[in-house]
Amino acid sequence: MQDEEHRRRRKLLVPPFHGKRMRAYENLVEEETLNEIATWPDGREFAVLPSTNRITLNVILRAVFGAQGAEFEALRKVMPPLVALGSQLVFLPWLHRDLGRWSPGGLDRVAADANLEQRDDVLSLMLQSRYEDGTAMSRSDLADELFTLLAAGHETTATQLAWAVERLRRHPGVLSRLVDEVDAGGSDRLQATIHEVQRNRPVIEGAARQVVAPTMPLGQWVIPHGYTVQVDIPLTHQNAYPDPDRFDPDRFTDSSPDLYSWVPFGGGTRRCLGAAFANMEMNVVLRTILREFRLVPTSSRDERMHSRGVAFAPSGGGRAVVYRRIHTAGSDGKVQLQSVTTVALG
Ligand code: HEM
Repeated sequence: MQDEEHRRRRKLLVPPFHGKRMRAYENLVEEETLNEIATWPDGREFAVLPSTNRITLNVILRAVFGAQGAEFEALRKVMPPLVALGSQLVFLPWLHRDLGRWSPGGLDRVAADANLEQRDDVLSLMLQSRYEDGTAMSRSDLADELFTLLAAGHETTATQLAWAVERLRRHPGVLSRLVDEVDAGGSDRLQATIHEVQRNRPVIEGAARQVVAPTMPLGQWVIPHGYTVQVDIPLTHQNAYPDPDRFDPDRFTDSSPDLYSWVPFGGGTRRCLGAAFANMEMNVVLRTILREFRLVPTSSRDERMHSRGVAFAPSGGGRAVVYRRIHTAGSDGKVQLQSVTTVALG
């Protein structure tokens, strides 16, 4: 997409994804997480990726499309095959054009909703937004944007969450400090851990840009017009941090990441639009998992990076062994969590 057209369309999409709006989505993320993890088995090893995929798909369908009831169930069935195809072929332009049979009806139904102004899903906000010249987004632009959001926003986040589980099981000290923090109602260490998971195991390999100027100086090189420059995200993280292979959330406990050296969401004018959303989602999902389950550490080898179309996933799908934590009511009526101290190495 050309720069001007990209800027025009991106401007409409920024407000629904602004950091300040994220609080509104926290409850639905927690609800979807609790629904999904209710099925997790006690004491038996399983891969978390299918689970995190279902959570993030349901979340995006509800948050972006505002889908509910029968419409939600129908979308939930039709979307995974579409998205699976999309993740393999996401760079083929035709896939970005067509949302399938449901799109005109779905969009028109939302547009006709008398309570449109009260709705807070992304689709409603997009339907109400206007370009600088006062015109609304066309139905085909909307469908295009929605499909991109769905394809870009669900598998990436699910995969990053699977890596968080993979990393935490191999770093019991980090894990136990995190559980203490979550039990005490804190969030700083969890945020630092998420930043470190994304540094240590970024799920997207690169961000590419085409040179539009006649030439572009880049260090000792001059890149000609029309060439594509790709920033290698894992390599950037390797080069920009001391002892880069060490998983150490303390790198980020006192400061936010520098957005030139920490680039899991890309950078500049095309930086991931859903970064704040993904960050909120990962915080809520992990917090909920750690509150409800004891995650058993492991001494088994790191899972390898395995390409799944767009995202690099842990080769075993983020294998986990968990035990439900026991919630009891304390004398003050508040729920207390019993921590189970025996730690089996799985
Ligand atoms: C951990 C999860 C995620 C990761 C690692 C991720 C990563 C990325 C990366 C690397 C890019 C390319 C940036 C560039 O070229 O500089 C991107 C673009 C994008 N992402 Fe994400 N993403 C995630 C979640 C999401 C979510 C949840 C959404 C939406 C709800 C989303 C929507 C988008 C969109 C719309 C773009 C295109 C932005 C543009 O071209 O202006 N992403 N993402």
